[in-house]
Amino acid sequence: MSAASGESGDTPARDPQKDAGEDVERARESGPSTAPANTPLALLYRPMRDVDLPQVLAIEEMAYEFPWTEGIFRDCLRMGYHCYVAEQGRRLVAYGILSIGAGESHLLNLCVHPHHRRRGVARKLLAFLMDKARSAGVDSLILEVRPSNTAAIQLYRSLGFNEVGRRRDYYPARGGREDALILALEF
Ligand SMILES: CC(C)(COP(=O)(O)OP(=O)(O)OC[C@H]1O[C@@H](n2cnc3c(N)ncnc32)[C@H](O)[C@@H]1OP(=O)(O)O)[C@@H](O)C(=O)NCCC(=O)NCCS
Repeated sequence: MSAASGESGDTPARDPQKDAGEDVERARESGPSTAPANTPLALLYRPMRDVDLPQVLAIEEMAYEFPWTEGIFRDCLRMGYHCYVAEQGRRLVAYGILSIGAGESHLLNLCVHPHHRRRGVARKLLAFLMDKARSAGVDSLILEVRPSNTAAIQLYRSLGFNEVGRRRDYYPARGGREDALILALEF
C-alpha cells in the first residue's frame, strides 16, 4: 500500500491519469459462482465507482489497522487513477488502485475481503492491473509494503517483484512508525 494511503498518512499527490472510471472494461474468469471454498472464484473486473465506496470501505476497515479514509478513495477516483474492483456475482471481493505515469506504474492499494483470501484473488487482480500498466506502455510497477506484511510480500515475490529500497518511518504503527519496503517489477 502506497502514497495515497491512510497507512502513510499522505493523500494522493500525483498527476491526473486517464480513464479509470469510464471505459467499462470487463474480464470474466471461468468457474462456477457457487464454487466451494477451495476452488477459484468466478471474478468480474470493472472500474470502481462512487457507489462502490461503502463496500470498499467496509473491506478496507476489516483489512487494515490504519485504513484509508473515504476521502482518500474519492481523491483516487477524482484523480483518474486506475481503480478497479473484482466482483463475484454482485458481491465485491477485492479492489486495486494503480497510478500510471512518467514511465512507471505505482500500486497504491490491493485488498481482498478477508472471507475470500487464499483463493488466488489477489494474484489475478494484480495480473489484471499489470496488464493495464503494460498496455499503457510503462515498463515497471513499484509498490510499498510493510516489512511485517508477510502475506503481501510472499505474493509480490512470487510474481517476481524485487526489493529496491526502503522508506523510513513511512507508515503509522502502534507505538510509532514502520518503514516501508519498496518493491519493483520490471516488465
Ligand atoms: C495480501 C492479500 C492481498 C493477499 O490476497 P489473497 O487473495 O489471499 O492472495 P492469493 O490467494 O492471490 O495468494 C497469492 C500468494 O500470496 C501469498 N499469500 C497470500 N496470503 C498469504 C498468507 N496469509 N501467508 C503467506 N502467504 C500468503 C502466497 O504466496 C499465495 O500463493 P499460494 O496460495 O499459491 O501459496 C490479502 O491478504 C489482503 O488483502 N491483505 C490485507 C491488505 C493488504 O495487506 N494488502 C497489501 C498491501 S501492500
